[in-house]
Amino acid sequence: MCGIVGHVGCIGAQRSREVVMGGLARLEYRGYDSAGIALANDNGIDVIRAVGKLVNLQDAIDAGHPEDALAGIGHTRWATHGRPTVANAHPHSTPDGRFSLVHNGIIENADALRAQLQASGREFSSQTDTEVVVHLIQEAYDCAETPQWDGTIDGADEHTHSVGARLIAAMRQVTARLEGTFTLLVVTSDCPNIIVAARRSSPLVIGLGENENFLGSDVLAFVEHTSRAVEIDQDQIVAVTARGVTVLDQSGQRVPLKEYEVDFTSDRATKGGWPTFMDKEINEQPEGVANTLADRLDSHSRLALDELRISEDVLRSVDKIVMIGCGTASYAGQVARYAIEHWCRIPVEVELSSEFRYRDPVVTEKTLVVAISQSGETMDTIMAIRHAREQGAKVVAIVNTPGSTISRESDAVLLTHAGPEIAVASTKAFTAQVTACFILGLFLSQVRGNKFADEVADYMEKLGEVPGKIQQILDQGETVRQFARTMVDATSVIYLGRHVGFPVALEGALKLKEICYIHAEGFAAGELKHGPIALVDEGQPVIIIVPTPRRPELHNKVLANIQEVRARGARTIVVAEEGDSSVDEFAEIVFRVPQVPTLYAPLLAVVPLQIFACELATAKGLDVDQPRNLAKSVTVE
Ligand code: M6R
Repeated sequence: MCGIVGHVGCIGAQRSREVVMGGLARLEYRGYDSAGIALANDNGIDVIRAVGKLVNLQDAIDAGHPEDALAGIGHTRWATHGRPTVANAHPHSTPDGRFSLVHNGIIENADALRAQLQASGREFSSQTDTEVVVHLIQEAYDCAETPQWDGTIDGADEHTHSVGARLIAAMRQVTARLEGTFTLLVVTSDCPNIIVAARRSSPLVIGLGENENFLGSDVLAFVEHTSRAVEIDQDQIVAVTARGVTVLDQSGQRVPLKEYEVDFTSDRATKGGWPTFMDKEINEQPEGVANTLADRLDSHSRLALDELRISEDVLRSVDKIVMIGCGTASYAGQVARYAIEHWCRIPVEVELSSEFRYRDPVVTEKTLVVAISQSGETMDTIMAIRHAREQGAKVVAIVNTPGSTISRESDAVLLTHAGPEIAVASTKAFTAQVTACFILGLFLSQVRGNKFADEVADYMEKLGEVPGKIQQILDQGETVRQFARTMVDATSVIYLGRHVGFPVALEGALKLKEICYIHAEGFAAGELKHGPIALVDEGQPVIIIVPTPRRPELHNKVLANIQEVRARGARTIVVAEEGDSSVDEFAEIVFRVPQVPTLYAPLLAVVPLQIFACELATAKGLDVDQPRNLAKSVTVE
């Protein structure tokens, strides 16, 4: 939620502006209510802000002709405090224009701080929580009593060092007063060669270049310029100049740089010829699932999860699993529950991260918490993880973003290898998450002796066939797309599923809500008669995920459910296995999926539902990748 970019460098007059705008374009998925940029040069700081998409900011920049800069910071906003107006857009500056600052997160004690600042005569021009921070920075910077910071800043000449040291001292003092979550980047006109940044529970990574350095909410902000990245840990402060990066811990001591190589190139984060990122990401699912499965078996065909870092003894002692996640990630957990309980005979609960800690859940050292997140930055999930670990539980994170907060705060990480997901609506992350959960479940069943190694290898082999089968569905996508285009006037769609089809129904409905703005609900097919069937009248579209006929106890019941809604006038759209002709007479249209073991069916059944939502949103002329009111990475609770 909110994207932040920074650049310091001395290689070309417009470099900072171009880098920051390019970075914001790649981070726009994190928020797009408004955007702004501050460019620091020897004459001061130019701040330009605009409401709406980044293109409006670009127009404002073109009209404003800002001066060439030595450093720049930028922000793309998802509004929390204050409506999306120019006044509330970041960067926020002091009234004298000496300091400009961008912020991602929420300052929880902003009201109290604002009252104190107002009492001392400071005037505010926005309703944001952020504006207090820039005032506090100036106050601390200008105050002779602020304790000096006396370390060395890499790559700083004498003047940069003296300004930078004061700015670091101010940042240390101010962040100690802040409650809540933040990534902060500040520039000052006293010296335009340095950016000082800080983070607590919001993301920040540094990119290392030649005679220039970068800052970003994630590596997408700068991956087109460098693949060398540095992780910034909780409560660290960092001073970035063109020729150096200095990271300090909470006590002000310098810490070694935690450098790593970004393992994807910038073209992974472009549309690559597809009309939307969502289209592209739906079509990347065979690769995402295959990459998540790759290299998991050792030379004896045993599942080996070296990255898991939790001892097998501990895994054997687990007596309950709790899967946590939000939105799509929580539905991936719901799918996994059926498989893990079946394979491991351990009770599995699935809980929304945002509800987990408020329920006072029964969590002990024998509980394994599985936290699922594409971004690895979802604040609800971070808080749930912290709560679980405080109770002594071990936490395995299933994340798509290496180095993210969730991966760092968990005991172990199982990476999905779906590649960067840019569209707000999650697609390839879901299938990769379900795959990773299956791998984890099979590994547990192997370690705990519920399954023999050859059985696990068998399950893995069948999972290995899934990417090819997803590809078959993609190849037949035109049937789904054609039908979607006939549905532009739909105002409500019901999704039904039973067993593993139920979370697929929930996921299908979520896709329709978030990108098509159509009211959609997923129900367990068996629940229909307990209330939701009252919603069905003439012409109501109902999408039904039909289980394989090889499981007649499920299949027959869902066939009966289709007939129940049809009898009440519903239009029935059916997702069914190839060769299952029993559905034909009850369906207006059937989307076919290949045969797989029942537990794996969600990996296929979800694909037509994704294509359906994507095409319908396109046909309605909506912004598929950046739906209203949403952001990709939800870093507030
Ligand atoms: O990054 P995460 O996987 O933690 O995000 C969780 C949800 O915010 C996310 O899945 C959301 O529901 C998607 N927009 C759904 O398409």
